Amino acid sequence: MGLKQRRLSQYWQKMSITSKFGLGLGLFLFLIVMVAAIGYVSLIKVAKAENSILTSLEIQQLVLDMDRGMERSRRLYGDFFLQYPIIGFEEAHQKYIQPSIRQIAQVISTSRSLKHKIEQSNVSQALQKTHIDLNLYLSSAKRFAETSIESVELITEVSAPGRGFEEQLVSRMQSLKAELSGHTLLLNLYHEMQSYVQEYRIARKRFLMQSAFNVSFKLYRQIENETAFDPSKKERILALLDQSMEIAEKILEKDVKLKSIINDFSLQEAALGPISGSLVKLAMEEVKQAKQRIEYTHKTAILLMAAIALFGLFAAVCIGRILNASITQKLIRLTKTAKAIREGNIEVSFEEKGEDEIGQLAFTFNMMAARIKEFVDTLEAKVAQRTDELKASNEKLLREIDDRIKAETEKANLELQLHQAHKMEAIGTLAGGIAHDFNNILGAIIGYADLAKEDIPEGNPARLKIENVLKAGYRARDLVKQILAFSRKSQIGRIPVLIHPIVKEAVHLLRASIPSTIDIREDLDSECGSVLADQTQIHQVILNLGANAAHAMEIEGGILDISLTRMGIGPSEIFKYPDLKSGAHVKLTVKDTGSGIDKDIMDRIFDPYFTTKGIGKGSGMGLAMVHGIVKSHEGMILVNSTPGVGSVFDIYLPAIDDNLQAPERTPETSFTGTEHILVVDDEPAIADTIRMRLERLGYRVTMKTSSPEALEAFRQNPDRFDLVITDQTMPHLTGEKMAKEMILIQKDIPIILSSGYSSIVDEQKIGAMGIRAFLMKPVEMKALSECVRRVLSGQK
Ligand SMILES: Nc1ncnc2c1ncn2[C@@H]1O[C@H](COP(=O)(O)OP(=O)(O)OP(=O)(O)O)[C@@H](O)[C@H]1O
Ligand SMILES: [Mg+2]
Repeated sequence: MGLKQRRLSQYWQKMSITSKFGLGLGLFLFLIVMVAAIGYVSLIKVAKAENSILTSLEIQQLVLDMDRGMERSRRLYGDFFLQYPIIGFEEAHQKYIQPSIRQIAQVISTSRSLKHKIEQSNVSQALQKTHIDLNLYLSSAKRFAETSIESVELITEVSAPGRGFEEQLVSRMQSLKAELSGHTLLLNLYHEMQSYVQEYRIARKRFLMQSAFNVSFKLYRQIENETAFDPSKKERILALLDQSMEIAEKILEKDVKLKSIINDFSLQEAALGPISGSLVKLAMEEVKQAKQRIEYTHKTAILLMAAIALFGLFAAVCIGRILNASITQKLIRLTKTAKAIREGNIEVSFEEKGEDEIGQLAFTFNMMAARIKEFVDTLEAKVAQRTDELKASNEKLLREIDDRIKAETEKANLELQLHQAHKMEAIGTLAGGIAHDFNNILGAIIGYADLAKEDIPEGNPARLKIENVLKAGYRARDLVKQILAFSRKSQIGRIPVLIHPIVKEAVHLLRASIPSTIDIREDLDSECGSVLADQTQIHQVILNLGANAAHAMEIEGGILDISLTRMGIGPSEIFKYPDLKSGAHVKLTVKDTGSGIDKDIMDRIFDPYFTTKGIGKGSGMGLAMVHGIVKSHEGMILVNSTPGVGSVFDIYLPAIDDNLQAPERTPETSFTGTEHILVVDDEPAIADTIRMRLERLGYRVTMKTSSPEALEAFRQNPDRFDLVITDQTMPHLTGEKMAKEMILIQKDIPIILSSGYSSIVDEQKIGAMGIRAFLMKPVEMKALSECVRRVLSGQK
């Protein structure tokens, strides 16, 4: 870009928008003025040309008028010559000469005004130059007038009636004729002469007059020679002839003059013709030129206007483009920038270096954008900070809510459990009390019946009866066992066992007892480890759950899934299993596709004697017992059931590290012995049956029905006894306390504790006390014999 251009661009950028618009409008105004001026000039020129045309036409008209005037005047003049011999001089003068002179005067006045017109108006140079010609015309017209007057004077002299030469000639010749009368020859000559004169008067031919002169000479000589005339007459006649010839000569002279005048006329006419012709031609030329001028002006004006219009268009486009580039485009860019900011892109700025209003606007806009960015940045930082704070407090709140929910869930669970525990406790206490008494009674019944059975020989009908008594007793004992299991009064029998074979065996047992419409699927993990459990009770759990499932699928059949897995419960999951401690667990699942359990009865299914089965079909003790067993194993049971779909019972039992091998079955041995055993039971019947059983096995037995007495007996001679079998629940001194005393007396005395139920007795506790074994009441004789032998042999 050149320096000049750069300066121009800088100047343009510095200009305000108003000035830019002003400049554009100014240019347009200038163009409009130009168009108007051209129009005006064209109009003037056209007017001038029109004026010139008018003038030229007027000149033409005047010239034509002049020509016509001259023509008419000449014609009148000619007519005069033709007519005056016929109609008389006076009339012909009046009729032709006077109008002719008037015409000439008219021509002169016209030529004067024509001259004036040419001088005054702005006619062309060529026309102006015709002045001289016009002067010639004028003088010629004047001359024509003068000569015509002159010729009229001449004619007057010749032909005026009464005084003209012709009349004089006629009167002389008539006088002559009168004088010659009687002289034939002379009269002949006279007549000859007169005829020549007469012909001349008509034809005006000079030779005719000459002939008349010749004849007159002849006559003159004849007269001179005539003798018949007296001298005076002769003199008179000759004088008359002389006078006639003199007058004739004058007439001839005047005629010659007239002829030259007429010749002069023709010459003038010949000279004037071209003048008027050239004048007309010039005027026509003038008109033509003026017309050309008008045409030229017209064309020029159109061309100029078209050029201005084109230039205006071009200027409009240029101005439009310039304004578009310097205003509209900038505004569009500014709008786009503003839009970008509105849409959140605060990084943008408006590039504009001009110093006009838009430049100032851009500067302000950029300042504003920068302020917004600054503001947004600070705001973002603040928002981020606030968000972090909020997030932190939100997390804290969520944790608190979580904790609270957990606490509340736990609380609710605990309340439920407490409620359940209270309920179960109450039922348990009641049931336990009953079971205890029942156990004692059953102990006696079973014991005596057992003993009686041995006393009765085979084949005796009483033996069958006794066996039926025993069967009934055992059934009653099982029932009591179930009650005790539910009330968790029995903790006895829990030993570390591998859970897999137990479950497998139970499933095997289950298969035999449920219909074939039910498909049993087992998924038992053999590696799932050991639990501290009572094998029989685990069997009972599986059999009961299996029986319930089978019952639920009784009508339509279905699938019974039994699975066994090992799982860990972490501290984070513990709230899901409020009854469990964190650590490894064994999960036993019994799932069916049966009828499902209604929501209304869900919280009652574990209640003892709750059943939906008909009378005689279900006792309602199944799940109560399962619940009791699971609880006594420090486990947990969860139920999930959807009516119409099926039920799932999940049982969680704590696993123990003890990695046991599958137990080997101890071979059937003889439990006989001779050792001295102290049997203590406040129930004499029980004590008695035990005593009788042991004595039958060969043992020596001391029986005591009071614990203090038994202790006293032991204290007096501790070495006397090899084994003590004692009941737990006894008045004054419990079996446990008594055992404690006895151990104090003799440290290694083997003691077997038996009880219908015991909330305080658990294997570890009694083991720690030094008690060697626990026997569940009612004591089965076989179990008693086995336990006694095992303890005496020093086995655990
Ligand atoms: N798998 C199951 N599907 C549907 N309902 C069940 C299921 N298990 C238990 N129930 C319901 O729970 C009730 C109580 O069961 P529970 O085992 O305690 O007693 P029962 O089965 O009725 O009687 P019993 O076990 O003495 O034969 C049942 O009567 C039955 O209504
Ligand atoms: Mg049941």
